[in-house]
Amino acid sequence: MFPGADITEVAASRCAEPSPSSGSGHRIDIENVTLEFAIARGARALLVLRDVSCRIEPGCFTCIIGPSGCGKSTLLSVIAGYLAPSTGCVKIDDRKVSGPLSDRMMVFQQSTLFPWYTAAENVAFGLTLRARRRNYPMAELRRRVSELISLVGLDGFGDRYPHELSGGMRQRIEIARALAVNPEVLLMDEPLGALDALTRMLMQREILKIWQQTGKTIVFVTHDIGEAVIMADQVLVMSKRPATIREVIKIDIPRERSRENPEVVRISHRIADLLNATF
Ligand SMILES: Nc1ncnc2c1ncn2[C@@H]1O[C@H](COP(=O)(O)OP(=O)(O)OP(=O)(O)O)[C@@H](O)[C@H]1O
Ligand SMILES: [Mg+2]
Repeated sequence: MFPGADITEVAASRCAEPSPSSGSGHRIDIENVTLEFAIARGARALLVLRDVSCRIEPGCFTCIIGPSGCGKSTLLSVIAGYLAPSTGCVKIDDRKVSGPLSDRMMVFQQSTLFPWYTAAENVAFGLTLRARRRNYPMAELRRRVSELISLVGLDGFGDRYPHELSGGMRQRIEIARALAVNPEVLLMDEPLGALDALTRMLMQREILKIWQQTGKTIVFVTHDIGEAVIMADQVLVMSKRPATIREVIKIDIPRERSRENPEVVRISHRIADLLNATF
């Protein structure tokens, strides 16, 4: 049984939407975003983002790279609508972000799966929650969950609990769960940071495959320059805090990209130089 699923009520505003392969992604406009955290009464506010502006085209794979603590996660949270900027705004397809919405989903580095639910139940969670008020066939919900599990390459593992899965498999389930509500924008905050090098390379390929199949707009934070250059259409290189965008590097090398490709090496050096210059 899927979580919270009363079979007669289950359903799916979003289940009724097109399959995950039909999206075309939304455009993201980050317009002069400045964000300060109020710390404690009397203390000076902490300026984290300073006048950050950037356009991310629909379906674009964008990586964000920058020194630790510069404000990358904060910027993702502003795009997600979890944090409101002090000044400036983020627009998704010309609509101003004023809070979280299911058109944007976040995947984190650490697992946020419910340990008491199976992989399939975790994937179904968002669907069943939002689907309660409408009649929707349980079979359709199951079909969609199994389609998502297949998309992330985990056929046959739907009935396993998170503790029975490897770190890489858990991340795949996180991605499937985020995709379940058919968001147009996927925000990924170092989703591969906790994985070993081999699994990480495999997952990079998997994520690119999913991106190519779904057409989502992806914003992906990483500390790994090679990962950014292998994966992205564009890399936003951030300065140290208060973060600004030092440079937007467009990458049009055909995929699948090899780390030895001279152009990949050249761009990687360019990013390393920019990052070194920020310290
Ligand atoms: N809720 C908060 N309240 C106050 N300060 C915060 C809050 N969240 C983050 N910060 C501060 O904002 C700054 C940027 O944090 P953020 O997590 O965005 O950095 P980051 O670039 O993602 O770092 P990392 O690469 O280590 O993940 C840090 O100095 C952090 O201490
Ligand atoms: Mg972070």
